[in-house]
Amino acid sequence: MTIGILKEVGTDKRVALLPESVATLTKMLVPVVVEAGAGMGACVTDDEYEKAGAKIVSKKDLFLEAGVIIKINPPDEEELHLMAEKTIFLAVLNPFFNREIIEQLASRNITSFSLDIIPRTSRAQSMDILSSMATVSGYKAVLAAANALPKFFPMLMTAAGTITPAKVLILGAGVAGLQAIATSRKLGAVVEVFDVRSAVKEEVIGLGGKFVEVEGATEDKGAGGYAVEQTEAFKQKQAKAVHDHAIKSDVIICTAQIPGKKAPVLLRKETVELMKPGAVIVDLAASSGGNCELTLNNQTLVHGNVKIIGNSLFPEEMPVDASKMFGKNVINFLKLMINAKGEFNLNWEDDLIKGTCVTNQKEIINERIKAFINS
Ligand code: NAI
Repeated sequence: MTIGILKEVGTDKRVALLPESVATLTKMLVPVVVEAGAGMGACVTDDEYEKAGAKIVSKKDLFLEAGVIIKINPPDEEELHLMAEKTIFLAVLNPFFNREIIEQLASRNITSFSLDIIPRTSRAQSMDILSSMATVSGYKAVLAAANALPKFFPMLMTAAGTITPAKVLILGAGVAGLQAIATSRKLGAVVEVFDVRSAVKEEVIGLGGKFVEVEGATEDKGAGGYAVEQTEAFKQKQAKAVHDHAIKSDVIICTAQIPGKKAPVLLRKETVELMKPGAVIVDLAASSGGNCELTLNNQTLVHGNVKIIGNSLFPEEMPVDASKMFGKNVINFLKLMINAKGEFNLNWEDDLIKGTCVTNQKEIINERIKAFINS
């Protein structure tokens, strides 16, 4: 079966597979077609795809030739209509926010896989596109903050006097938060970190951050390493601690999220109003409501003297490495589906294949998504 790589529609410059990943598929005996110009935003030409073994085609021809179609963003109306029945479609479907698309994929008899719901087990680590994109976001968030801050990040001893290092507060030490700690430390800032999962304490310290502990957090070992909703008593204790540290910080990077739920609000308006003039907040939780109650998704605003950057699209701003990581993750996932002859063979006994599939044979087969769509 031929794999087709679509060009992203809109402003996203990433591409699902770079030529290096196409070359891997070619070696696995899988024919690949690529929509003309698909890699331009990520600085790769059609020639490079051809050298890797792909055929360059128009969008319409891609839908005619490919039985498996891969892109990053969910399909738009045109793409949904061009897709033939029984196509295998892989993308980041963000199913809890795209009810209509999921319903259409089911009714059009598409076998769809949502790359953002790959079960988070050790076997799936090399396929985890959320981790890859969070790595980009954590890094870029710090650069955006450093760029907007009217001060240096590092301590400098100059003939004109000593510059004190910037104080960075990081809320949430998941993949993005840990990358933000590492990047802030490399730039020379002093870093403090909050998280409700005590398991991350060692990692925070290992990266040179200071872990601020608030006692009484609820942890659930069955939550797959994720955070869970906290009690009211804990939230109040944490709010006080975050407030005390926030008002002394130059930069706050917000990354705290709870899968499938609104992000916890950790920074109140009153706190922002007491922050240092010129301070910068970058809220990576903006798309799920934000950790700061003033954040607006994909907007930058100034409240008093504090800049609040609500950018959820950092991976799109680093299309080369974001595409490289995304493609590697997708190839690792595809390896579960392709046999030695380059044929597709979906093994429904495999927890990763079953757990990532959203629709098959006109049914929504993922139980959580089915419950959400029927709610
Ligand atoms: P995330 O994006 O869901 O959340 C970011 C961080 O915010 C988490 O560390 C979470 O504990 C923290 N947080 C949530 N509520 C908070 C609150 N009220 N106050 C302070 N912090 C709060 O998490 P992410 O980065 O996607 O991954 C979280 C964990 O998932 C990882 O550390 C790891 O244990 C696990 N994971 C497993 C993978 C695998 O095995 N394939 C791949 C990636 C992550």
